[in-house]
Amino acid sequence: MSGRLSLRDLQLTYQTSRGPLDALGPLSFDLEDGEFIAVLGPSGCGKSTLLKLLSGLLAATHGEARLNGEIIDRPRRDVGIVFQKPTLLPWKTVRQNVLVPLRVLGTQTPETEKRADKLVAMVGLEAFAHYYPHELSGGMQQRVGIARGLVHDPALLLMDEPFAALDALTREQMTLELQAITNAAKKSVIFITHSIQEAAFLADRIIVLSERPGRIVEVVSVSLPRPRDLSSMVSPAFIETCDHLRRLFAPVHAHA
Ligand SMILES: Nc1ncnc2c1ncn2[C@@H]1O[C@H](COP(=O)(O)OP(=O)(O)O)[C@@H](O)[C@H]1O
Ligand SMILES: [Mg+2]
Repeated sequence: MSGRLSLRDLQLTYQTSRGPLDALGPLSFDLEDGEFIAVLGPSGCGKSTLLKLLSGLLAATHGEARLNGEIIDRPRRDVGIVFQKPTLLPWKTVRQNVLVPLRVLGTQTPETEKRADKLVAMVGLEAFAHYYPHELSGGMQQRVGIARGLVHDPALLLMDEPFAALDALTREQMTLELQAITNAAKKSVIFITHSIQEAAFLADRIIVLSERPGRIVEVVSVSLPRPRDLSSMVSPAFIETCDHLRRLFAPVHAHA
């Protein structure tokens, strides 16, 4: 299974009570199979809108997105999604929530259940596998969402600020785990974030978006070798990349 994504003039206008609101685009770019792309942009520029378009939950106003050549017009089984808010089923336990994609796809077997249990452990929730969402903190719920997004081993992983609700230490740990998973399984990833460091640490390329409606300001390639570890964060290449990204946002902050 491969995850090649192509966007052509992708654009979204919401119809709101105050009239049409241009939220995103037009946006065009390609993601190669196995590539990790971070999308970095200011709050409200259309990042979550982009993720909803790519996950087939929202129809584009203009343009199109294709996965392996097929137009994305509905949710797909070879895509994993981690939303900005975890959206867990309150009547299911942690383990049952993680199993949901397997149940939906009809691929729940002892083997895939083992994978689910591994992911629950990977996100540090082994001891909470049989707890319900309301018995967890916000950060723990978010980690359930991350495990659920990976459980069916999707070729393309779409993540919307998945670590934003986590404390700094857990966040660092999750970042390293995500890198290990995507390196080992050669996944294509679209990782939405407003953290410059997170983008520079994880991505092969960073797509920098403008203020709403989000359009590409620049595509930044990250030349850090893999695998990356915490020492990568003090390397000259990392610091240079962060510095460059910060400069791209500087004029925006000057207006604020
Ligand atoms: N369902 C919606 N209906 C109308 N406007 C929306 C809707 N969702 C988002 N918006 C608007 O679209 C813009 C982009 O939102 P969003 O994609 O959530 O931005 P981001 O994730 O980058 O913070 C914002 O101005 C927001 O108010
Ligand atoms: Mg958002």
